[in-house]
Amino acid sequence: MERREIAQLVRTHMERRLEPEGKKEYIVAANWKMNMSAKEIKAFLKEICDTDVPEYLHIIIFPPFPYLPYAQEMLRYEAVAYGAQDVAEQDKGAYTGEISAAMLADCGCSYTLAGHSERRAYYGETSDVVARKASKALEYEIVPVICIGETLEERRSGAYKEVLKGQIEEAAKVCKERLAQCIIAYEPVWAIGTGVIPTIKEIGETHRYIHDVLASECNNAGGRFQILYGGSVNESNVKEIASVPFVDGFLAGGASLKAESFKNIIKRLSLDGCL
Ligand code: PGA
Repeated sequence: MERREIAQLVRTHMERRLEPEGKKEYIVAANWKMNMSAKEIKAFLKEICDTDVPEYLHIIIFPPFPYLPYAQEMLRYEAVAYGAQDVAEQDKGAYTGEISAAMLADCGCSYTLAGHSERRAYYGETSDVVARKASKALEYEIVPVICIGETLEERRSGAYKEVLKGQIEEAAKVCKERLAQCIIAYEPVWAIGTGVIPTIKEIGETHRYIHDVLASECNNAGGRFQILYGGSVNESNVKEIASVPFVDGFLAGGASLKAESFKNIIKRLSLDGCL
């Protein structure tokens, strides 16, 4: 299946999720960060190809750059999408170490992460840089998954809403009306890799808030946004989080590193359907 066809398939499925009689659709994404070897990745991809995935779940794998060709080769005929963990904000040229959106498109990527909190914290990526990366991906028909999230201090002080709003506003400034075509991953920094997650109430409130900010930035036009939750997602908590309004899927890190635990997340969301 071609990259565009997969992206289109996911979009069509996701749009159906709002039909009252339809089952809610979810994206289940795996962010492998700087982990795994060629051998492990090939074995994982093979397992995913052999896994039954209900049609209302859409899997996206984010391998490290050098392994994208394995995804390209092994997922070619599968309804499993894949993408990159980052993308350059420039088109091409003397930017040693950077990977362009055109290169990702060449490798068959349908998606890219942009502005993961680790990129923001360790590599100084500002919301403006993140927005330009997302916009560049869109130019090449790659769907950016823009990661936003607050630190623990920002959550505790109550400043988190302003922080999240600011991150979305910066994205809107650059992506403009195409913001609606981006996926937003809400990942509280304090929940990433810690095993601590916000309460269900907090997730519900925050996702609703993010939805409202997106709607207002996009002039309430359409309002079909995809908002993923990320941060210590695992097979034990995924089903409950899935029941929260405005949660359209998950971005899993640690729990996506072993095929077994990632497949268990898929299984949990498959049992008795979702909503
Ligand atoms: P985690 O990571 O699931 O290990 O918390 C999520 C992420 O960083 O995307």
